[in-house]
Amino acid sequence: MNNLLLEVENGIALLTINRPKALNALNSETLAELNACLAELENNEAVKVVILTGSGAKSFVAGADISEMVNATPAEGRKMGLLAREAFGRLENMPQVTIAAVNGFALGGGCEISMACDIRVASENAKFGQPECGLGILPGFGGTQRLARLVGKGRAKELIFTCDMISAEEAYRIGLANHVVPQEELIGYCKAMAGRIMKNGPFAVTLAKQAINTGMDTDLDSGLKLEANLFGLSFSTADKKEGMTAFLEKRKEKHFIG
Ligand code: HXC
Repeated sequence: MNNLLLEVENGIALLTINRPKALNALNSETLAELNACLAELENNEAVKVVILTGSGAKSFVAGADISEMVNATPAEGRKMGLLAREAFGRLENMPQVTIAAVNGFALGGGCEISMACDIRVASENAKFGQPECGLGILPGFGGTQRLARLVGKGRAKELIFTCDMISAEEAYRIGLANHVVPQEELIGYCKAMAGRIMKNGPFAVTLAKQAINTGMDTDLDSGLKLEANLFGLSFSTADKKEGMTAFLEKRKEKHFIG
């Protein structure tokens, strides 16, 4: 991989977008590598949590690569959008939990890729924004859809129409970032959160992710029916027996198999 770094350790995959000279902007090659890498990770049962970050101390991802897009035709733009849709869809729906460790600029496609992750943790210097309208395009990697779902229609419209860049604190205030931590603690903080997630039944976490994702895109009654079905499914697992038996035996350590 030319533009990605991957480290897998103790159930955590740390995936770094590595184009620091372009502030980790996403070109087609990076999107294709990301898609291929996530396709492998989603089938890797040893990986329980994926942490996505950017290389360097300045930028998470400064957006799609403007130098590639400037001369792109509508067909090429659409192709890029579809590639991102596939890669970001994997992040959103893969069985593992995904955490965006937002270590700096998360602009345009950078903000959008962070929103395809389950959880966003921002460093204090992080900046979020959707500057696309200022480039004469609109957010094309899911921004008009995921931002509105995360922070509400009114705030999403304001951010997209004004192209304002907001601080990590403001992102936290409006629910775009789950936490804000000092830059040097960012990856450690995300790994500690991954550790807390991995103590729980992995299959149960995957089913809960599926229930939330699918439920948010449907009406309440259908979402509640889906939840009841997945809840029932969780009763068929060895993990349910283990988790409940551990409680009744007042045992702290649990042996989930997932
Ligand atoms: C290509 C980029 C880039 C980008 C930065 N660079 N962002 N190259 N695509 N999105 C490059 C710069 O050209 C420069 O290269 C180097 O990274 C450092 O950037 P500077 O601008 O010199 O840094 P600074 O002054 O600190 O400003 C940082 C910044 C600014 C505020 C993040 O770079 C910026 O505004 N970038 C563009 C952000 C943006 O508009 N993103 C949305 C893209 S559209 P050189 O070679 O000069 O050193 C998008 C659409 C998604 O994401 C949907 C598409 C279908």
